Amino acid sequence: MSEQPPPVLISETDIDKRVRELAAEISADYADKGNVVLVGVLKGSFIFLADLSRRLSIPRTVEFIAVSSYRSGSVSSGAVRLVMDVRGNIEGRHVLIIEDIVDTGHTLKYLIGMLKSHRPASVKTCALLHKPGSAQVEVPIDYIGFGIGNEWVVGYGLDYAEHDRTLPYIGTIDPDDQ
Ligand code: IMP
Repeated sequence: MSEQPPPVLISETDIDKRVRELAAEISADYADKGNVVLVGVLKGSFIFLADLSRRLSIPRTVEFIAVSSYRSGSVSSGAVRLVMDVRGNIEGRHVLIIEDIVDTGHTLKYLIGMLKSHRPASVKTCALLHKPGSAQVEVPIDYIGFGIGNEWVVGYGLDYAEHDRTLPYIGTIDPDDQ
């Protein structure tokens, strides 16, 4: 593991500004929809969800879901397994999935299908980061914080083998150097 802090890709100030913009957009889109269920995908989305949810001006509740996306190092195998389902009843509710990052798209695609089986009124998706160059499956992302290149990012909830998850900004690392 490198001793140097990861170089900054997206600063705390830029994250804060973009999270406020997303919150305003989501609040406007859901203004007449009643209580929206924010489903945070553990672990990576916990900081983004905390910041975004506090900036919404609409009624909302929070649920969590946990999945394992099988990877060897930074490479996705495409296989996703449910580790923890939502606890509350989401039938007939408007659901917004809150993801840290969409890379190949396998995880989000699996989650949309899984949550739809609970028969919600709607399922939309919000990802802080998107790597459009890495997509392997087509998946709708309704709200995107930032598009980034095909690099490994850490911080603001994202990790590499559990390292750097609570870094206040988003930085880049080279998985081959770790
Ligand atoms: P996907 O199924 O390939 O779209 O991968 C989604 C999941 O892989 C995310 O929810 C993250 O947990 C993880 N992931 C993908 N790229 C990165 C990254 O650059 N940094 C940290 N985690 C990542």
